[in-house]
Amino acid sequence: MSVKHFLTLQDFSSDELNHIIQRASELKKNPELAVMQPRKTLGLIFEKSSTRTRLAFEVAMNQLDGSAVFLANADSQLGRGEPIEDSARVLAGMVDCVAIRTFEHEKLVRFAEYSSVPVINALTDDFHPCQLLADVQTYVEHRSSIAGKTVAWIGDGNNMCHSYINAADKFDFQLNIASPEGFEPNAELVNTHKNRIQLSRDPKTAVLGADLVVTDVWASMGQEEEKNQRLASFAGFQVDAQLMALANSDALFMHCLPAHRGEEVSASVLDAQDSVVWDEAENRMHSQKALIEFLLTQ
Ligand code: CP
Ligand code: NVA
Repeated sequence: MSVKHFLTLQDFSSDELNHIIQRASELKKNPELAVMQPRKTLGLIFEKSSTRTRLAFEVAMNQLDGSAVFLANADSQLGRGEPIEDSARVLAGMVDCVAIRTFEHEKLVRFAEYSSVPVINALTDDFHPCQLLADVQTYVEHRSSIAGKTVAWIGDGNNMCHSYINAADKFDFQLNIASPEGFEPNAELVNTHKNRIQLSRDPKTAVLGADLVVTDVWASMGQEEEKNQRLASFAGFQVDAQLMALANSDALFMHCLPAHRGEEVSASVLDAQDSVVWDEAENRMHSQKALIEFLLTQ
């Protein structure tokens, strides 16, 4: 039997994703429903920093009556060059599921190929699908279904933007993307979903008619050295109160966090009433719990 992995949103059907989001909201209201027997163990391999993703997985496993084992790159053999294929087979012999945060998406794909237990993408340079479960859950909880709505992505065509492109396909919404020249999302991915996407260089155009406005940092993990040059390239792409005023009057604001107030988002927008970033962060735990339950009880 082939193992089901969660490497991008494309690994699941729309029905499966909607089921997980609905279950996440249910578990949020009734945490006592979340128990898995026999007890399960999740392995966590993180080659980049994390607060929310790691915490969400560890707390979720506790609440599911299971456990999580964290392997930091610096002190595991993977960090010293043990082949990914060998590590995948060793971990699969001891844990029930593995979540990986790494750089090249290809590395995650290779790990999954050799893993006989489900593998979850906890963020790669190219995709961050777990964040999208929380974002859609948060939208649904505040406003109802996201199907047929318009989302504006302002800024870097990065891993989060790519997962928003996949989400537009899976959850049936329109995605307006505004990014500076040279920072557009992957052209092949855009082309695959071109019927859902509108690209522009103008944040003001992108937010017109938007029900949700989203941004992310201008320099992602691994791009720290480009930070100063990126600050210059992204001038004019800050989500501030004037930009939010051009979106629909009931538009929400989201950011996966961590945020840089005064760069990609103004402090007043991040801390405003239509900003739902704290619920979005909390929902990482509920949605990842529902994801694990789904993967391990099929
Ligand atoms: N949003 C997100 O993935 O946060 P962390 O990097 O803290 O996990
Ligand atoms: N684009 C950001 C997301 C952090 C959660 C990064 O990859 O660093």
